Amino acid sequence: MSFGYLCPFKSLEDSMLEVLTTKVHDEARQGEAYAPLTGEPLQYSKKFYIESYGCQMNFSDSEIVASILNDSGFGATRDFTEADVVFLNTCSIREKAEQTVRKRLTEFRKIKQTKPGLLVGVLGCMAERLKSKLLEEEHLVDIVVGPDAYRSLPGLIEEAEGGQKAVNVLLSREETYADISPVRLNSNGVSGFVSIMRGCNNMCTFCVVPFTRGRERSRDVSSIVRECCDLFEQGYKEVTLLGQNVDSYYFTQDEGQLSGQHPSAVTFAMLLEMVANISPLLRVRFSTSHPKDITDDVLHVMAKYNNICKYIHLPVQSGSTRILQLMNRTYTREWYMAKVKRIREIIPECGISSDIIAGFCTETEDDHRDTLSLMEYSAYDLSYMFFYSERPGTLAQRRYTDDVPEDVKKRRLQEIVDLQNKLSRESNERDLGKEFEVLIEGNSKKSDADWMGRTSHNKVIVFAKSNREINKGDYVNVRVTDCTKATLLGEII
Ligand code: 5AD
Ligand code: SF4
Repeated sequence: MSFGYLCPFKSLEDSMLEVLTTKVHDEARQGEAYAPLTGEPLQYSKKFYIESYGCQMNFSDSEIVASILNDSGFGATRDFTEADVVFLNTCSIREKAEQTVRKRLTEFRKIKQTKPGLLVGVLGCMAERLKSKLLEEEHLVDIVVGPDAYRSLPGLIEEAEGGQKAVNVLLSREETYADISPVRLNSNGVSGFVSIMRGCNNMCTFCVVPFTRGRERSRDVSSIVRECCDLFEQGYKEVTLLGQNVDSYYFTQDEGQLSGQHPSAVTFAMLLEMVANISPLLRVRFSTSHPKDITDDVLHVMAKYNNICKYIHLPVQSGSTRILQLMNRTYTREWYMAKVKRIREIIPECGISSDIIAGFCTETEDDHRDTLSLMEYSAYDLSYMFFYSERPGTLAQRRYTDDVPEDVKKRRLQEIVDLQNKLSRESNERDLGKEFEVLIEGNSKKSDADWMGRTSHNKVIVFAKSNREINKGDYVNVRVTDCTKATLLGEII
């Protein structure tokens, strides 16, 4: 669908870049099947089926994989029984995530017995972590491909069709898939995800990501802006800029990424502003921020643009300075609290959410209480909460003992969950009677008579459809009339 709108960056892209580049110097989702049907079925001689696990980045990568496969003659199918090749895009962040994938592989083993030609491929973090060991452990797997090697998929499929096992787990310092137009899978047509960087240099001691996704690299700024423009032209109303650590986005036109400051560098604050300028009707979100890296510049840009959503996912991991140090988070409890205060000063209405780990190595009851009190201080609207799961090869696994008993981890996690439920309910109750601009994402899950949308501060709100001509993807003003701990309920004004 076209809006007769000309993306300012298509014509002005180069000059804008010049202006901006001379200025500066700064259990996640599991097992959701991507069930896409892209292109005309007849256009493709073969079919692939892909299922994605883990973080949003993985879901976004599956869209890149779909594009690469489309280009080599594979069309997507929602029905794995009609697929020639099945891919699982996997997550290694916690042991449970890997177990889920292993179970799913067992199911595919049965299907393969009735369909001998079927190829099974493992993509993503588990492929990278286990490499060819995966072929020994899971006999039905034919193809193993790490996150930086998706361009080699067509060749690897050919090899596997010839009866060989095919593996490519090379990590890259440059690959950003900048030139690939993702095929939007299972999209609601309203919100799209745009990857702005890959990898992570942070080395949090509990985390396997630096090992499975490699060194951090930032994607070419013009390709990001172009992709956002394209989404807007296709009718999308919201883009989420994705990276493991978006605040360290740093792109230089000529020499790629540099570690020091560079006169023509584009920082995250600048990128955010460029995307916000595409259109006031295009909402901009981003995830994930690291407390040590989010700058006042970013907060000021957020405050300046109405279409940049007032919501920051700012994982704390622990409220104890001692544990934060063991985690190599490089900030203290006090630093984190000062950051929350700063966010509230510059963007008073900002929603803040967090990731929290219970029972990291050596955690005492005092450390745990520090986490609870920091949650109260931050008044999180939402948290993703986990108990510590030791991952092979991480710094924590090599340096520390996983010494908090499982029952203690689980009890502490439950206390964290209970507190978050209370904080979420209180946060929602503070919104009662207020009016919000809401972007409609589609029908509510429970009833086609209701719309579901999101406020700028990322709260889900459900409200009755009115008789007025209102559609998915429209902005409407809604007054909050009631709430649960997870959802606001409202009425169109
Ligand atoms: N155990 C438990 N949770 C973890 N996370 C990352 N690694 C682990 C682990 N080994 C959590 C962190 C991170 C989120 C994506 O997953 O909270 O922010
Ligand atoms: Fe893992 Fe830390 Fe990087 Fe996040 S910032 S991906 S938790 S190492």
